[in-house]
Amino acid sequence: MKFIHLTDTHLLAGDGELYGSNPKKRLQQAVTHLMLHQPDAEALVITGDLTHQGQADAYGQLREVLSSVTKPIYLIPGNHDHRETLKEYFPSIECDKNGFIQYTKDFGDYLAIFLDTNEPGVPWGVFCDMRGAWLREQLEASTKPVMLFMHHPFFTIGIHSMDNISLRDTAAFRTAIAGFESCIRQVFFGHIHRPITGSYQGMPFFTLRGTNHQVALELHADAEEGIPGRQEAPQYAVVQLSAGQVLIHIEDFLDDSVRFRLKG
Ligand SMILES: [Fe+2]
Repeated sequence: MKFIHLTDTHLLAGDGELYGSNPKKRLQQAVTHLMLHQPDAEALVITGDLTHQGQADAYGQLREVLSSVTKPIYLIPGNHDHRETLKEYFPSIECDKNGFIQYTKDFGDYLAIFLDTNEPGVPWGVFCDMRGAWLREQLEASTKPVMLFMHHPFFTIGIHSMDNISLRDTAAFRTAIAGFESCIRQVFFGHIHRPITGSYQGMPFFTLRGTNHQVALELHADAEEGIPGRQEAPQYAVVQLSAGQVLIHIEDFLDDSVRFRLKG
């Protein structure tokens, strides 16, 4: 199983720029690149902040750009999204019985679990008891190791302004995964607009840059000064799964540096 992970596309209504680049054009460039260079990828996952302000026109443009992707696409909302408008424009998106955009997919040797941490009106993540109960059910029912996809990280990452808006109350999430930590072989998230990897309480995690704008690596900046933005190269990830391995390569899809063959 091979799939593509990209995140934080932040599409706008209309055709404007956001922080100096055009989000729609950036996503088109990512899609063109991955369709050309990773034609055998079996799915595309986008971990939230699909749009910047949740307007209908932005979702319409997202649907238009993604229409050229000839593989299944799995979406989850981020804090910038509007859950109901997302559902309207992607009516086949699956929801749990409470209307949250939460679902599972068979990813070869793993069960992929997609989680909804959106809460209308706030930038931080929320994972309530209802969402937690659904996650617990999936973990209990799974016969395979799992990977989680969610927009907000459930731990701090050291950039204080972003830690302010991560998953705020983690109690329901922690209760849901309690005892299943060793089954969670990889957590993929978005939100941070930076490449970060490591493990948290034994669970490996991964995130990467968005397709439009990035967050600078300023670990000591005061959270009150706001989120440090930067125009670094956008990315997507190529993820290869096998029974004993989760392998993640990062592609800077706009990089046009010289290519050559190294000699012995
Ligand atoms: Fe974002």
